[in-house]
Amino acid sequence: MVEPLIITLDGPAGSGKSTVSRRLAEQLGLEFLDTGAMYRGIAAACLDLGIDSADTQAVAELAGHCRIEFNWQAEPPNLLINGRDVTDRLRDADVSAAVSDVAAIGAVRDVLVQEQRRIGTLHPRLVTEGRDQGSVVFPGAQVKFFLDADPAVRARRRADQIRQSGRDADEAEILRKILTRDERDASRKDGPLIKPDDAEVVDTSDLTLDQVLALLEQRVRERVGAALESAP
Ligand code: DC
Repeated sequence: MVEPLIITLDGPAGSGKSTVSRRLAEQLGLEFLDTGAMYRGIAAACLDLGIDSADTQAVAELAGHCRIEFNWQAEPPNLLINGRDVTDRLRDADVSAAVSDVAAIGAVRDVLVQEQRRIGTLHPRLVTEGRDQGSVVFPGAQVKFFLDADPAVRARRRADQIRQSGRDADEAEILRKILTRDERDASRKDGPLIKPDDAEVVDTSDLTLDQVLALLEQRVRERVGAALESAP
């Protein structure tokens, strides 16, 4: 039997966790689960079907009835909703604007939390990233991290990303949106962003991506090195 090894990375947008968790999984020879992609996938499906993301009941109904799957052959895995590959749609501006509403709906979270646990059973050697992975979805995970960064740093990173893709970015406006979203994510009734007591907090404000990665890898090897060696 494969020995389970679940590593969770939670934290707010711009903390650097997406890239870090994907690369950490690669370096440790584990699979990688991007749970934000699942919320984005539901948001994309709503928009493409003309469902208003503020219509809680209709969104919940859709989430309950659609098939959400990853193609694990791709790296990172592609997301399919009802058999259609929606990966390229996930970062579109309309999806990013709608996803917060979708992620605040309790019934949607119930569906996706259940699906994430199912994925954890089928892919038990996993780095999983999101907002509630260590607190709600995998409370028994072997290693938990909570990545954070100063809001101004997170705004600058986001602005750099936008500029790299050739568009203009208003950093002050981005910062304002980040603060509003933090407030909303922390105070929502279902699945709020909370730091699990047993998670190690890593402030990435003054660290490069490579430094964060090296730190996390070192911690994982210290704590569960033996389980890593037993990889199939
Ligand atoms: O990490 P991201 O930007 O792809 O996340 C998209 C949205 O989904 C964001 O509003 C936070 C939310 N989310 C969540 O509520 N729970 C998760 N486990 C992952 C993401």
